[in-house]
Amino acid sequence: MRIDHVAIAVNNLDEAVKEYRNALGVKEVEFETVEAEGVRVAILHLNNSRIELMEPTKDTSPIKKFLDTRGEGLHHIALETESIEGEVDRMKGTGVRFLGDVRAGSRGTKITFIHPKSLHGVLTELCSHPKK
Ligand code: CO
Repeated sequence: MRIDHVAIAVNNLDEAVKEYRNALGVKEVEFETVEAEGVRVAILHLNNSRIELMEPTKDTSPIKKFLDTRGEGLHHIALETESIEGEVDRMKGTGVRFLGDVRAGSRGTKITFIHPKSLHGVLTELCSHPKK
């Protein structure tokens, strides 16, 4: 596995992008809206990983709920694996709890989430990219 991205919940995406760009010196930023999840995302490309800043697009967004209760900050880390189904099966065997089944993410990825209780308080996404 490797860290695919780290996702951070923010109140104002454009402001956060400006500050992250300045602070980290990141040049390449892509924007994406995932209406089904009620989130607008800015993807900051680092050398071998990404930071994703996320802002809610509606009041019913889970990110909105997160911001209201915990404020801005780390939302989840994402680990990339070659075979997501295989990893999920293996992890379930060790008692890891998941939030939902393996499902389609953006850009042909497959994703699922590990319950933070299983990893000492960190919501963790598992993802696999389509074969190139
Ligand atoms: Co993610």
